[in-house]
Amino acid sequence: MAQPIGPFPRPLAAGAIPGWAAALLEEAVRLDRQGRIGEAGERYHAIIGAEAIPGPVLAEALRRLGVIHHRRNEPRVARDLCNRSFEVASALADGALAAEALNALAGFEMETGALERAGEIYGRALALGGVSDEVRGRIEQNLGILANIQGKHEEALAHYEHALEACRRSGDERGCAYAYHNLGMVSADQKQWGKAEAYFRKSLHLADLLHDLRLRGLCLLNYAEVHLALQQYEHARRSAEEALGIFDELDTQLAKADAYKMLGMIFRETGRPALAESRLRTAIELAIATGALLSEAEATRELAILRQSVGRNQDALALLSTAHRLFGQLHAQVDLVDVAAKVEELESTYLGVVRDWGQSIESADSYTHGHCERVANYALAVAIELKLDEVDRTTIRVGAYLHDLGKVKVPHEVLNKAGPLTLKELEIIKSHPVWGLELLAGIDLPWDIKPIIRSHHERYDGTGYPDGLRGDAIPLSAQIICVVDVYDALTTNRSYRPAMTRDEALATMEDCRHWWRPDIFEAFLRAV
Ligand SMILES: [Fe+2]
Ligand SMILES: [Fe+2]
Repeated sequence: MAQPIGPFPRPLAAGAIPGWAAALLEEAVRLDRQGRIGEAGERYHAIIGAEAIPGPVLAEALRRLGVIHHRRNEPRVARDLCNRSFEVASALADGALAAEALNALAGFEMETGALERAGEIYGRALALGGVSDEVRGRIEQNLGILANIQGKHEEALAHYEHALEACRRSGDERGCAYAYHNLGMVSADQKQWGKAEAYFRKSLHLADLLHDLRLRGLCLLNYAEVHLALQQYEHARRSAEEALGIFDELDTQLAKADAYKMLGMIFRETGRPALAESRLRTAIELAIATGALLSEAEATRELAILRQSVGRNQDALALLSTAHRLFGQLHAQVDLVDVAAKVEELESTYLGVVRDWGQSIESADSYTHGHCERVANYALAVAIELKLDEVDRTTIRVGAYLHDLGKVKVPHEVLNKAGPLTLKELEIIKSHPVWGLELLAGIDLPWDIKPIIRSHHERYDGTGYPDGLRGDAIPLSAQIICVVDVYDALTTNRSYRPAMTRDEALATMEDCRHWWRPDIFEAFLRAV
């Protein structure tokens, strides 16, 4: 889902102000809106320095100049100016202008990640007497965005609803359109597709009334996401293509990237991988060109899912690793998204891909069906017994799914041989840890699983392979996989013997407990 629209730091109108002063302010605001902030800044300066300037104009100019300094990354000056604006407005007992100043100050805090402080200042702004519905609408929208960044969906919905009511009362149709859009976005994040569609339809209707082409494009793109989720592919494709046409006309590269991503997903889901590949590639290129990390990360993830769907697991994993790194570089505040939720979602996609890949190896070895899944479950239980942290647990799960990756290179007849193996065949099997590493060469994985793949057949007493490591030279994660790997091998049917019961397996393992570090073996016993 795209970001919410906002934050909303500036008022739409300056209010009733004496002629000459209003003219000065109007000119400065016009330049400001055209993006000519150097010239606008000079005009605001002139207003602030002018004699006998009316208080409301002064407060307005101070705040607007503060916002310009904020955009120039001069936070101290920005804050000082807005604080002065607040003081001037307070002295005038002008609640609306004072609230505007606080709204701007809170926005600065939100964008630098001081979320609690931002919430507190927005709260003060709302509590001011005389706050107009127009200002209230904007503050509530910003509070909604703040809640959204923090992953508090219900709170975000409540704020957007309050924003909607305030905007309705003040006749601010654009504000209503944005509130509907953001309500639709949160509903879509909660997978409430029917609600989301209704909100986007209302926002779209207002966008058309206001001739706001950009908002129309955003609504159509969100529509496409809803219809894709509902598997209404033709509808989704038409919406996404119209959105792309609009963004092309407006020449907004970033929005185009998101439209291309959506088209790529639609083509992927409708079984047209070549078109999907091309659209997703374009999305990634556009996102890189505009420096949009979030869009790049999301398009890269979608391309990974495409590669997986055509069985190219290695490519899929490389792309997911890139997406993981990109998500890690996102800043919740600047990108207005709940980064933690994004990363969590990506990690579950990641686990899905490695699980699939692990299982695709098992099909070459019919006796070990379900082996990776069981090893992953046992290993996780041991990791929990050892009180390993979240990152280590994920490392062990991912490593468990892929630990025998190298077996794809072992010939079928060797892997499934019923009789005893020759020395040469044994050598081939013993190469699988190194072959596994070769398959992952060049992929910069987010979790350190390579030690698991290389060393999961090493033994504590130095009798393992491929490096004959001894004692603590064997990585902890590899030892954990080693012990549960042996247990699973003993308790499942093999081509050369039937499955042992749990107790038989544990008794057998007791006889060779010197293969594992004592505390790991103990944790394993507790876990099974
Ligand atoms: Fe293995
Ligand atoms: Fe294994």
